[in-house]
Amino acid sequence: MTTEDAVTAQAVDSLHGTDDPRLRELLTALIRHLHAFASETRLTQREWEAAIAFLTATGQTCTDTRQEFILLSDVLGLSMLVETVNGQSEPDRTESTVLGPFHMTESPVRALGDTIDLVGDGEPCVVTGVVRSADGTPLPGAVLDVWQADPHGFYDVQQPDVQPPGNGRGLFTADDEGRFRFRTCVPSAYPIPTDGPVGTLLKATGRHPYRPAHIHFIVSAEGHTPVTTHIFVAGGEYLDSDAVFAVKESLVKDFTPTDEPSLAREFGVPNPFRHARFDLVLERS
Ligand code: BEZ
Ligand code: FE
Repeated sequence: MTTEDAVTAQAVDSLHGTDDPRLRELLTALIRHLHAFASETRLTQREWEAAIAFLTATGQTCTDTRQEFILLSDVLGLSMLVETVNGQSEPDRTESTVLGPFHMTESPVRALGDTIDLVGDGEPCVVTGVVRSADGTPLPGAVLDVWQADPHGFYDVQQPDVQPPGNGRGLFTADDEGRFRFRTCVPSAYPIPTDGPVGTLLKATGRHPYRPAHIHFIVSAEGHTPVTTHIFVAGGEYLDSDAVFAVKESLVKDFTPTDEPSLAREFGVPNPFRHARFDLVLERS
C-alpha cells in the first residue's frame, strides 16, 4: 500500500463506530472521492489553502435571504445531478428541474385567471394547462405554486424597495377538470447573483452567469409525488448554456404570439399577447 493509500484507509477506518449505516456509507464515499481528487490532481498546499479560503468566503456570504452554498452547488452542476438522481423516473411524466434560491414557502393565494404580475410593465402573457395523473385522469384540486422574475430579470425578494411583495408569485388551485390558468408577463433571462465567491468562480472560468427565461412551478396533488419544475421560453437566449444546467428539452415551451381580441377579452389581457400551454403529468405516490 502506498503512503497516500494508507492515509485514506486510516481516515475510512476511523468511521467504524458510526451507528447510522447510511451516514457511514456517505462519509466513506466522501473521504474516498476527496482523497482521490487530491492525489489525482497532486493538490498543492497553496491550492488547498485557496480552496479553504474560497469555502470560508462562501459561508460568510450566506445570510437569511442568500444561500451562496446552494448557488455554488448550482453552478457546479451538483444541484441538477441530485435533482436528476431523485427526479420523476417514469417516461411521459413531467420532468423536474432545480428549485433555485428564490422560492418562498408562502406564495400569495390567487384565483384561477388572476395575474401574478403586480406591476404591468412587461409583455402580457397567459399560461394555461391541465394537471393529470399518469393514466390521463385530470386532477381537480391540484395546487400550483408559481414564481418568476420580472421583465428586468429580478425576483421580488431581490428588490424589496422596488417591487411589491408577492410580485411574480401565486398559489393556484386547479378546477374540477384539473385545469389552471393565470396571467403574467413574459419572463426574461437573468443573471444569478455574481457579487460573491460564486461570481468570482464564474469569472475565473470565463462563464456567463445567465439563466434562460423561465417560470418556476411546484405542482402537487393528493396521492401523487409533487414535481418541482420550470417552463422555459422557446427561442430564448441561453437555453443551451444555462449557468445552472437546468434546461430539459421537454420543458421548453412556445410562448405563442396571439392576436385575437376575443381570446384576449376571455383571458382579460390586452391584445396582442403571448400564450404558453403547459400540461403536467404527475406520478402516483
Ligand atoms: C432560479 O431559477 O431562480 C435560480 C436557480 C439556481 C440558481 C439561481 C437562481
Ligand atoms: Fe428562476
